[in-house]
Amino acid sequence: VTLSVSTAGGNASSPLLYGYMFEDINYSGDGGIHGQVLKDNGFQAGTAATLNAYAAVGGTTLSIDTANPLTTAITRTLKVANPSANSGTVGFANKGYNGVPVIAGTYTTSFWVKGTYSGNVAVSLAASNGTIYNTVTIKVQSTSKQFTEFGATLPVTYSSTALDNVWQVTYDAALATDSSLNFALPQLFPATFKGRSNGLRADVVNFLGDIGGTFLRWPGGNNLEGNTIATRWAWNETIGPVQNRPGHLGTWTYYNTDALGLLEYLYWTQDMGIKNVMAVWAGHALNGDVVTGAALDPYVDDILNELEFILGDTSTQYGALRASYGQVEPFTIDFIEIGNEENLAGGCASYASRFTQIYNAIHAAYPDITIIASTTDTACLPSTLPAGVWTDIHYYLQPNQFVKLFNEWDNWSRDWPIFVGEYASTSDNSGAKTYWSDLIGSCSEAVYMIGLERNSDIVKMASFAPLLEHFDLAQWSPDLFGLDSSAGSLTGSTSYYVQKLFASNKGSTIKAVTSDSAFGPVYWVASATDAGTYYVKLANYGTTTQSVTVKVPGASFGSASLILLSGNPTTSNYPHSVSITPTTTSVSGSASAGYTVSLPQYAVAVLVLKK
Ligand code: AHR
Repeated sequence: VTLSVSTAGGNASSPLLYGYMFEDINYSGDGGIHGQVLKDNGFQAGTAATLNAYAAVGGTTLSIDTANPLTTAITRTLKVANPSANSGTVGFANKGYNGVPVIAGTYTTSFWVKGTYSGNVAVSLAASNGTIYNTVTIKVQSTSKQFTEFGATLPVTYSSTALDNVWQVTYDAALATDSSLNFALPQLFPATFKGRSNGLRADVVNFLGDIGGTFLRWPGGNNLEGNTIATRWAWNETIGPVQNRPGHLGTWTYYNTDALGLLEYLYWTQDMGIKNVMAVWAGHALNGDVVTGAALDPYVDDILNELEFILGDTSTQYGALRASYGQVEPFTIDFIEIGNEENLAGGCASYASRFTQIYNAIHAAYPDITIIASTTDTACLPSTLPAGVWTDIHYYLQPNQFVKLFNEWDNWSRDWPIFVGEYASTSDNSGAKTYWSDLIGSCSEAVYMIGLERNSDIVKMASFAPLLEHFDLAQWSPDLFGLDSSAGSLTGSTSYYVQKLFASNKGSTIKAVTSDSAFGPVYWVASATDAGTYYVKLANYGTTTQSVTVKVPGASFGSASLILLSGNPTTSNYPHSVSITPTTTSVSGSASAGYTVSLPQYAVAVLVLKK
């Protein structure tokens, strides 16, 4: 295949094209990117099973106590009975999300306690066999009248690949004069991103940021909608001190603590320097219940309150509330999506009216925010969309189906902006579900993304989904990357590396390419920066090696390199077994004679040509 890239003209490419989609699924929030690593720390789910995350230490017994609530939101606490002899070292352990990560660095930890105690309490990270990695001693003076909070930093000097490490609290039973002590809302954070309190895990955010994406779509997904109206994602339940957040039953089978709440999402995007694509609840839950007309008005008001909380100054009611939580400066929101997949689950028939009602209210108050409808299905949309509205489309497909969609947007109206808010190859070409991405699926995504980038004058944004899973706690796979509780477990799937290749190597203008061959099995797109760097993205969706020569007549370059993702097409990356990652090699040649590269089967690559 010989390609000739034009230096003249070209279409402006969306600067936001590649971004991220996040919702709490697969324990990607609690147990994933959120820094707090102790499971069921507030017993919010309210089931006896939440005690499974705990273990007694010493001769004591544990029970969930509803008679000693911490707050009206955290109504259950942990009763640790004193042994009958009232002596010995006792306490409890929390086993985290299938283990507590023990990774060298500085942790912060805290807990609330009620009951009479005066003395030292040891907080440790320990192996399941009792070996202590690191301990901090906290002087505790507590009474039976109220809960008192204690905290400390815990320097950890060791990293462990075990999957069953615990966090534990121990104390001298002889110094506890009541028959029991109650502990509430224990918390443990490894280093957080930008050192935020109640922040995100720094290692996870850094791994995400390595991709080079430009926006975050949040908080869902289905998890925005709720299985029922009552269990929708309600912003005002996710703010303020964590002891005032009741949590809620998410749509993905588990309880969300909502410690990852509205402000934490906003700090996430602010600290990463990326745009918000915030989705708002649109009067429809997954069980098919819808709220329309006048009954929707209070929910529309609620959206305006949420926006005032985010964008209002301190003279406003909700802006002042935000300031009271320590954030005086308003945030920035550039994009709001109305609902999620409102074409599905009984939402279509009423979406046009719900969309219009919500759109009118937001647009009147915030005319500069770009509003996104959550479907491209014209049967569900108003007959005429207001000018400037974008529409979202989602695809979970087999590899061949993605490749067939390569030219989906070539003839799309140039007045109709598109957001591909979720996409992933989720099964092989026989329809068998893929557990974790392999190169065949990831290469097909790359072919589709080449189609997106070729049309990135109207395809404004795209985000792979879901983003993250805690291995062994997942409801949905494949995901872009994953982790477990062992040190060094952050694992990029082959699709992660495709996203990284594409997001980190893109110019601002899409350049015309002429070729001696039709598309398939090799696909390509070329772009250039204002400074004259050219990126030629290539995917070989075929079983034989392809030789590709790229010429850029009239240009000259000082360096040429190929970033190549290739390997066994059906191998996947797993924790501590990552074999498919990109390699970079320099390529000889010239702009006029061409640069020739070899693309193995199902390889994805970017040729980078620099002045
Ligand atoms: O990404 C998983 C789910 O797929 C999302 O929650 C939903 O929007 C889609 O159906």
